[in-house]
This record gives sequence, structure tokens and C-alpha cells, in this order.
Amino acid sequence: MPDSFAVIGMARSEWSDEEFRRRMREHVEHYCDFDASIWGNLEEKLFYMRGDFGSTEDIEHLRERIEGLRSEIGIPDNLIFHLATPPSLFGTLTEQLERTGLLNRSAETGDMGKLGWRRLVIEKPFGADRASAQRLHQRLVKVVDEHQIFRIDHFLGKETVQNMLVFRFANPSFEPIWNHHYIDQIQITVAEDIGINTRGTFYEKTGVLRDMVQNHLLQLLCIVAAEPPVAYDARSLRDETVKVLRAIRAPSSAEVVVGQYGPGAVDGRNVVGYRAEDQVAEDSRTATFAALRLEIQTGRWAGVPIYLRTGKRMARKLTEISVHFKPTATPMFSVASNRSLHKNVLTFRLAPHEGILHTFIAKQPGSEICLTPVTSRFLYADAFGIKSPPRAYAWLILDVMKGDQTLFAREDWVEQSWTIVDPIVERLRADPPHDLPNYVAGSWGPEAAEALLEREGRGWDCPD
Ligand code: BG6
Repeated sequence: MPDSFAVIGMARSEWSDEEFRRRMREHVEHYCDFDASIWGNLEEKLFYMRGDFGSTEDIEHLRERIEGLRSEIGIPDNLIFHLATPPSLFGTLTEQLERTGLLNRSAETGDMGKLGWRRLVIEKPFGADRASAQRLHQRLVKVVDEHQIFRIDHFLGKETVQNMLVFRFANPSFEPIWNHHYIDQIQITVAEDIGINTRGTFYEKTGVLRDMVQNHLLQLLCIVAAEPPVAYDARSLRDETVKVLRAIRAPSSAEVVVGQYGPGAVDGRNVVGYRAEDQVAEDSRTATFAALRLEIQTGRWAGVPIYLRTGKRMARKLTEISVHFKPTATPMFSVASNRSLHKNVLTFRLAPHEGILHTFIAKQPGSEICLTPVTSRFLYADAFGIKSPPRAYAWLILDVMKGDQTLFAREDWVEQSWTIVDPIVERLRADPPHDLPNYVAGSWGPEAAEALLEREGRGWDCPD
């Protein structure tokens, strides 16, 4: 970080700068490897002011505070507004900031040193459907340009996601067989053991399709399926990922399974069902689980099923993308005719224990030729001697400061992702499932999700 910068937190609570710093310290201690000497410098740059986002007067005070600190500390005229607020405020706040002269169109930026830039950071959800996403965008671009808007999808800041790009495009080994000739199926699992905590009101409106599928799961899918971008930069990568979305065939209702958790036990602890959570209707039909079968209609991916699944209160936290290769056609070991040997899988694991795993067929030690699947593991912890890579937000916020939008969702991507999700949500609204809750908390989801793969002779990965 440069010497001259300041972070001003603004919210409704009556805190002093000291109280804000104390709270920030608690979080930094909790989430990072705490270093008191670094903290000492950082702490002096943190400030707080009470304010109501709806009040023009309070935003005016914010402007005065910014100007005061800027001349006191000698900060260049660069501003980032990170709206960590309910999404319903994004439009209004942007307009308020414009009215006070804090936010406006600034020149194309790209380096920290350039002066006078303004950047706006917002976090998903970006709209609740395509139409509302477009409306939000229209409001934002009345004030700023697309190159000033940083839409955070924190999955893109995860190490393994970026490593997928490096793995695919910096190595010659797998890319030549990264297509329907060699790949049988791809599975993306984002299973969580947590419930909805205190977010009942938000979750009732949002549900799993909007909370997880429209953004995180489709981003993972795009990274695993994209054509090689010409460069690692914002335009090239995002041009390719949006093409993946455009090539997705809308799933039929037989290709979508939704679920909701009932009471059960997670990690040996009894937990309530979704309908008994705070702020949730007793007869809620909100889905907390979804499994989808998608196809990407391009020459590379023709006919390869992509299975996505995600849910709350599942057996355990597991986030991974696995690419299943077809069995070899070489007749020597009869692998093709023995299903238990169809185990050539490359797994990108995001949680727990980030890494890349390769499962392949090996000979068991012994006098006979006896084949068995084995797994070779590259784990961050072992390879780089770090407990776990820095959290996704750390990189993304640094990228905002650098003006690098590579790992941020672009407007056309957001709109296209809603084009896939909207018809599914609409279908479920018109014909809601009658069997909810249909999975026990602490399980791997509803039976119908198993059936989705079983009817095609496949099964979900069950990692050990
Ligand atoms: C958020 C969702 O975007 O991602 C949450 O709103 C979800 O519902 C979270 O729990 C998962 O993130 P991570 O990094 O823990 O996998």
C-alpha cells in the first residue's frame, strides 16, 4: 500500500475512529496472519463517520471528511467507493455521490499513480433478474463508465480459480484433450454445511439459483470451459467467458432439480430445517439446493454434460470442479468395458485444502496385472508451505486499487447469466415443487439430484 491513503467507513452506528479501528483489528486478527507492525501503520489510516446513505446532508459531510483527510495526509485525488450495502441502495447511493461531486466519469485508468480516478465497487447480486440488472446498469452508467465499475464475485478471486487458467493455458499437457473427444462430463460442486444464518429475509427473496448459480457456479463453468484468451487481461478473458454463456442451451425442466433442507444433523450437531430458520415462512418454497445439467453448444463441448450442484446444509463444505475423461479405447487392459476403471479425473479443489488432484489408473503392486484408480495431489499447503492462500477479497480489492478488471464480472456477462437463470426461476414460480423439504440437513441433497446423473449412467463425485 502507498503511504498516503485513507479508508473511511460509513454506516449508521455511532462509532468513533477508535471503535472502528478496534473492530477492524478483531477481524484482521481473525482472518489474516496478524502482524502488529503492519497493523500499527494501517490503523492510523482508518477513519469512521456515522451517516445515513439516504441523507444528502450526510453524503455532503462525507465529502468534507474526504477533503479534510486528503489535505491533511496528502492523498492524491483518487477515490474508490465500495458499496457494501444492500443492493437496493446501489442506484440511489451512486446518484447521491454524483450530486455531491464525489463520483463522476473519470478517464480510463490502469495504474495507481494516475490522478483523478473514481471507481465504484458493488457486490452481487446484480439485479434479481435480467430486467432489473439492466435497470441497475442504466442507472450506474448515467454516472460512471463501465471501466469504473468493479462487480465483485469473490469466487473469481480464489487462488484455484486463477490456477485453473494457469493450469489449462500455461501447460501443454491437458489443453489438447480439453474437448468432447476426450472429456466425458464435468461436475461442479459447491456444497456448504452452513445454513442461512441470520440471512432469512435476504434468502427468502433470493434462493439458491440467484444466490449461487447465476454468479459463482456459472463463473466457475466459464473458467473451465473458455477458449484460450489471447492475453491475461480484462478484455480478452471476459470476451471468452461471455461466449461460453452465450453457447449454453437452456436446461429443460427435467434437467433441473431443486431442494430445500429439512431438520437433520451436520457434523454431529442437530440443526433445524430451513422453514424453522429465523425470518423464513413456515411453508416457504424457497430452494436451498439446486442441481442442473447443462450443455455448451460449441465444437469443443458438443454433447458433454456439465452437472452443477450447490446447496446449504449439505454433508460438508466442498467446492470443486472435476473433469472426467473418457476411458481409453486401447484394448490391452479392457478398461473401456470395466466401469470401475472409468476413473480419469482432474479435480480443481477450492475448499477445503485448495489444490489440484489427478486420479488415474495404476497397477497395484504384485505379480498380476491388477488395475486400480490412484490419486496424485498438488496441495497449496505442501507445495508453497502456506496454510491456506490469502482470501479472495484481498486480491480483488487490491485489483480495484490497481484498476484491473480482469477478475470482475462485466455487464454483458451479468445479463447473459440472467438469461440462463431467469427461465428456470420463472418455471419454478409458476409451478413450485410440492415435495419440499426434500433433503435432510447433513446429506448430499435430494434423491432426484442423484437420479439426474444415474439415468445417464453416471454418479456425483463422492470425495473421501
Ligand atoms: C456468497 C453467498 O456469495 O457466497 C453465500 O451469498 C455463500 O450464501 C457464500 O455462503 C459462499 O462463499 P465461500 O467463499 O464460503 O464458498
